[in-house]
Amino acid sequence: MKFFIDTASLAEIREAAALGLLDGVTTNPTLLSKEEGDPREILLEITKIVPGPVSAEVIALDTDGMVREGLELRRIADNIVVKIPMTLEGLKAIRRLSDESVPTNCTLIFSAPQALMAAKAGATYASPFVGRLDDIAADGMRLIEQAVAIYRNYQLPTQVLVASVRHPEHVMQAALMSAHVVTMPAAVIRQLASHPLTDRGLEQFLADWEKVKNR
Ligand code: G3P
Repeated sequence: MKFFIDTASLAEIREAAALGLLDGVTTNPTLLSKEEGDPREILLEITKIVPGPVSAEVIALDTDGMVREGLELRRIADNIVVKIPMTLEGLKAIRRLSDESVPTNCTLIFSAPQALMAAKAGATYASPFVGRLDDIAADGMRLIEQAVAIYRNYQLPTQVLVASVRHPEHVMQAALMSAHVVTMPAAVIRQLASHPLTDRGLEQFLADWEKVKNR
């Protein structure tokens, strides 16, 4: 399973990249709005830090506008993936970009039919938002299970990109369900590596070593 980071913060991206486990980055307009500076410059910098796919989202709502913006975003760097919202206009834009071999990430997916439509349009990635479903007392991870099964049933090459991740349990469930990619906030990446028994065990080893080190 690929690990992406869901942020536009260069500091967080550098920290995650230094771990050696980072496969890509996802951004969105909200994440870019939290950072200082020109969003295009930030995206360029991100593509220099991470050689893997970097999702950058269009703002236009009509197909022509989305395609135009998508091709503009692709001029930033070869590893830019054009993020397109799951709308009827968006599906048409994904089809057009996909026909031109431009990689796309269909975002704001909240149902299995939407995931199927994204794949049929030719999206490289489909992004169901699991946390936002959980927030309204729906079952976000059930949607991941369904999307993975549907793509497998029909050998659809679209990759399920688990988004709106809130905690390590989402990541572990995604791995058990054979999701292709999980995009996580920096805090979740840190949480994945941590366990209180690891900390307590290490503390104990060091304390015991103090007793014998001068023998
Ligand atoms: O980038 C899309 C998605 O991961 C957003 O997550 O936390 O705003 O629901 P969140």
